[in-house]
Amino acid sequence: MDREAARRVLEANDRGSFTVPADGLYPYQWLWDSAFAALGWACVDEVRAWQELRSLVAAQWPSGMLPHIVFHRPEPGYFPGPKVWGVARSPASTGITQPPVVATVARRLWERARDRRLADREASELLPHLVAYHRWLRRVRDPDDTGLVAILHPWESGMDNSPAWDEALSRVPDERAADVMGPAGQEGRVRRDVLHVEPDQRPSDLEYRRYVALVLTLRDHGYDSVRATAASPFRVADVGFNALLYRADLDLLGLAQALGRQEGDLEAMWEQVEASRRAIEGLWSEQAGLYLSRDLRTGRTIPLATSAGLLPLFAGIPSPQRAARMVATLEGWGERVRYLVPSADPAGPIFEPRRYWRGPVWIHVNWMVAAGLQSYGYDQLAERVRRDSLALIERSGFREYYDPLTGEGLGARAFTWSAALALDWTAASDV
Ligand code: GLC
Repeated sequence: MDREAARRVLEANDRGSFTVPADGLYPYQWLWDSAFAALGWACVDEVRAWQELRSLVAAQWPSGMLPHIVFHRPEPGYFPGPKVWGVARSPASTGITQPPVVATVARRLWERARDRRLADREASELLPHLVAYHRWLRRVRDPDDTGLVAILHPWESGMDNSPAWDEALSRVPDERAADVMGPAGQEGRVRRDVLHVEPDQRPSDLEYRRYVALVLTLRDHGYDSVRATAASPFRVADVGFNALLYRADLDLLGLAQALGRQEGDLEAMWEQVEASRRAIEGLWSEQAGLYLSRDLRTGRTIPLATSAGLLPLFAGIPSPQRAARMVATLEGWGERVRYLVPSADPAGPIFEPRRYWRGPVWIHVNWMVAAGLQSYGYDQLAERVRRDSLALIERSGFREYYDPLTGEGLGARAFTWSAALALDWTAASDV
């Protein structure tokens, strides 16, 4: 792996205080992309790594929410941009969030810090912001204390076009999208993604209209409130999001302890964390051999096996028996694809190896799955996931995602998290 090339990707996507996921297609700051970017920056410039997280919390809402995109500077042509979101804040942002991995990243930066004084100072400054964020997630997205937080938009899952959201999304009326997208059939006018990437690798026009209609509904309800949660026509307990929140809760509490900080209600948070572990255990499917999401509007389990269902491994949730079952599931997937980890079960009818979140491999998911496997002692399988990831990068460059059958690179090029995690992965050894 060419570490210099990876570093050049980060530098090319650096906008001073934040890193864009990819030039052109993604011209702003995305929440979980930025967190992973910080892991890459930590390998080359620690000050810059902390800066990345600082710029995220600088956009925090008074409620505690961390928005999924921060529109630092206007980028004409991006859709849906600041005008559609209609958030009267500075910096402008969207009104929804994304998988909460920031606390996990902050803890890793702190633990591996070479400059200890810098790390203590930066982590102490981040801590209250992260506590407020996690408390917001529990209060507003789980008002009934079920232990599972809801996502209100597929974009909040970070796995935007996952087949797991199809049914819940199909109940979202798309008519309102006309207000900002014009009549059906005219999507080409506003969709920027399909100008950059082949349409067969992106969501369909109808899905896109529903995404936008959902934004407008959430906007009507002010986005970050219990009211918006209740009113959302899309309400899902995403197993990936919940597992990452559980892991991030533990990391936040661990960081607070290490720093000797007593941030407000940390005691209550420990109890919540245990309740959330039990609730996530309730998403286990023996038949599928992994965890599944739940549609909170209907109360039904969503019976589709995707890579999100493996993320509880990264959170240390499954018992050793369940972890062994998940390993068997993943090994089964590994017999059907050349490169692990496909984003959807390659034996299932939903598998599309080239389309966004319906089959392709994503490097950041691999990084988390490999770490989870390793923590359960499955070193060989963890090593396969790591080797496959680096082989994809060798073969096709730092792409947004990859075809698990052929290794072809797909989506945007010079992609930040692929470069950042390759740096993290090869930091100790020269692969
Ligand atoms: C897409 C992905 C999401 C990512 C964003 C920027 O929306 O689905 O996970 O954060 O692009 O890279």
